[in-house]
Amino acid sequence: MSKNSLHKLLAEKRCVIVCGGGGVGKTTTAASLALSASKLRKKILVVTIDPAKRLAEAFGFTQRALEQGGEPILLSDESKQKLGIAADVSLSVGILNPKYVLEQIIEQTLSPTQAETLKKTMLYGQLSEMVYGLQEYTAYEWVTRMIKDSEYELIVLDTPPSFHAKDFFLVPGKIRNLMESKVFQLFSPKRGGFFKAVMSFGWVEKLLGEKVYRESRMFLETFSLLRDRILDRCDLLSKFFTQNEVAVVAVSTPESSAMFELEGLSRFLTERSIHLEAVVVNQVEQSSSALPDDELAALETMSSDLVAKIKKLELHQEKRAEKAMLAVEKCRAKYPGIDIVCAPMVYDADGFSILKKTSDAIIPTI
Ligand SMILES: Nc1ncnc2c1ncn2[C@@H]1O[C@H](COP(=O)(O)OP(=O)(O)O)[C@@H](O)[C@H]1O
Ligand SMILES: [Mg+2]
Repeated sequence: MSKNSLHKLLAEKRCVIVCGGGGVGKTTTAASLALSASKLRKKILVVTIDPAKRLAEAFGFTQRALEQGGEPILLSDESKQKLGIAADVSLSVGILNPKYVLEQIIEQTLSPTQAETLKKTMLYGQLSEMVYGLQEYTAYEWVTRMIKDSEYELIVLDTPPSFHAKDFFLVPGKIRNLMESKVFQLFSPKRGGFFKAVMSFGWVEKLLGEKVYRESRMFLETFSLLRDRILDRCDLLSKFFTQNEVAVVAVSTPESSAMFELEGLSRFLTERSIHLEAVVVNQVEQSSSALPDDELAALETMSSDLVAKIKKLELHQEKRAEKAMLAVEKCRAKYPGIDIVCAPMVYDADGFSILKKTSDAIIPTI
């Protein structure tokens, strides 16, 4: 199996899916990959999910935009300048909001009158609660729309926080099971749905009252259209992961628990013929470089107690850096066919620095 470098993936693929365990830095890595890609492509979109505040601020999102979601926004010239992105490159950032995506699905599947009536029914609240919970599904809906638009050369897709890294790939099967469960089959007209049949009896109308009866009928009809669409999309989603134009990149940290999670993910993907193309080992502690002369001189003026504490911290940092490098070497030996790159632990407080430093480390040659 030939090794695909991360550089090559960013230069050639249509979609890069960034997955990994909880809190390892998926969202930060997805944004950094998009930034690295801005040196290679002209139109990039990164779809992020629940970005940390400093990251959202670096991208210019207001609190309101964060809460409401909506179409991706273009990075402003000012942000581009701060991140060192060329003027002729456009980087768009979208924040996934399942509510917004659901409304779009309805708009595309139903007529305006059907959509309006559906939203007024009591059952719609239940339906939307359910779909909001399916973040992974709505992420996929969004990305397929963006790919179809062919507006972007590359889409970097962050994945929702989940208990296990593999959860994202289990979504099509889970949704299919849900939609095909007994409860939902009752709604399906194709399978002689129970409710549909019952609704055709005149006495049901009398029993429920005209308004509830009308609403329920409407809900059944429109919901079955949505359900069919969701099932169709689930089939496509299962195939999507294995497409050649789509690359899966995993994020881990040097911690043993994250490496263990990575091992499980890698095994899981192999079993499903999904190729894991690269791994970003994030938050790799750097060994402290020698202090510049002015800082060395400053040490002379400090109390010996303080200097001793600083030296102790330095030693601690050195040990963490050594441990991280060992974990990375082990990872390289374990996955010889996969490009393993490191992103440093960045202690700067602002989103711009984290992005720039991780992006420079991920793709150092460009
Ligand atoms: N390389 C890094 N250096 C310093 N902080 C980081 C780094 N990567 C991520 N973080 C921080 O760790 C937290 C979790 O990162 P995030 O990207 O949101 O993880 P995930 O998406 O996997 O949950 C955030 O506060 C983020 O700023
Ligand atoms: Mg995240």
